Amino acid sequence: MRRNVVTTAAIAAIALLAVSGCSSRSTTAGTGSTATGFAKDATIGVALPSKTSENWVLAGGLFKDGLKAAGFKGDVQYAGASTTVKDQQDQISAMVTKGAKVIIIGAADGGQLSTQVKAAHDAGAVVIAYDRLILNSPNVDNYVAYDNFKVGELQGQALLDGLKAKKAAGPYNIELFSGSSDDANSKVFFGGAMKVLQPKIDDGTLVVGSKQVDIKQTATAGWKSENAQNRMDALLTSTYSTKPIDGVLSPNDTLARAIITSAKGAGKPIPVVTGQDSEAESVKSIMAGEQYSTINKDTRLLVTQAISMVKDLQAGKKAPSNDTKSYNNGVKIVPAFLLPPVIVTKLNAAKAYANDPVLAPLTK
Ligand code: BGC
Repeated sequence: MRRNVVTTAAIAAIALLAVSGCSSRSTTAGTGSTATGFAKDATIGVALPSKTSENWVLAGGLFKDGLKAAGFKGDVQYAGASTTVKDQQDQISAMVTKGAKVIIIGAADGGQLSTQVKAAHDAGAVVIAYDRLILNSPNVDNYVAYDNFKVGELQGQALLDGLKAKKAAGPYNIELFSGSSDDANSKVFFGGAMKVLQPKIDDGTLVVGSKQVDIKQTATAGWKSENAQNRMDALLTSTYSTKPIDGVLSPNDTLARAIITSAKGAGKPIPVVTGQDSEAESVKSIMAGEQYSTINKDTRLLVTQAISMVKDLQAGKKAPSNDTKSYNNGVKIVPAFLLPPVIVTKLNAAKAYANDPVLAPLTK
């Protein structure tokens, strides 16, 4: 199902459904948590990774305000920029010591938290993975995120659509970028995109000039813009000194802007660059005709959903899920509550951000 042209009414309806716990997928009763309820003013821990994109900055503020408004004591922490994994491990341990009843985690490194989430579980806390899955642990109760595979599919489709819109016939020269390998989402985004792009690579419509199609080659360590910019610089020199580059699959907005900066520096503008997150600078870039697309994963809705799960747990109910098969973390399938991402290009930006006070003015 394609969702690249969505009306405001449809977005509002989707948002409402997502927040109210229903969706077009069948909603099943949650199986992940075993809460029997807890005090209305309990401590709720929120451990976020370092601020590698605007959505993490927004989430911290929204969690702080939202948990307070719901009567809880919110303990919101970010992993620092240098020792992110250790920071986050220590922060989660401190939340356990403080007696947090629910710990919501946006993992800095999804594979390095088993000890801490076991301690959380042993102490009776419910663990909710937020946005990024926590791997190789039986102690993850729930997952709340935008549908990551769908994000990837939308990015792949946007790249194809954009290329066709700019140049009627292929073959098109492209390059592929993916996210940080310590983030479980990276593989899922890339998998979704390649589901759309691989057949077009196979039939010759798309040509990956560098031949770097393996996720190990395309990864961007730490989701850092300088790493994407350096790789793009190197690709332009090695592969595109005598031919044009038509498009780049970028997994998010921060990296998209780094890729665009590299291309501008080399005097080789790239007609189609994808993104994700609806960062303000990228929305401006889309309106200016530089970046081609982004994904709207409204952080307000995701935080609202996570807090609503906390309220359910407080009342002794199970946290809801609408997907109980997609997110195998290596040792269990984590019941997930997935929200629908929306593709945004210059064509639908005004509609997509109509109810966003920060982004809407940028689309006028
Ligand atoms: C998030 C993206 C974000 C990236 C870098 C991912 O896990 O899902 O929205 O762009 O991390 O922060």
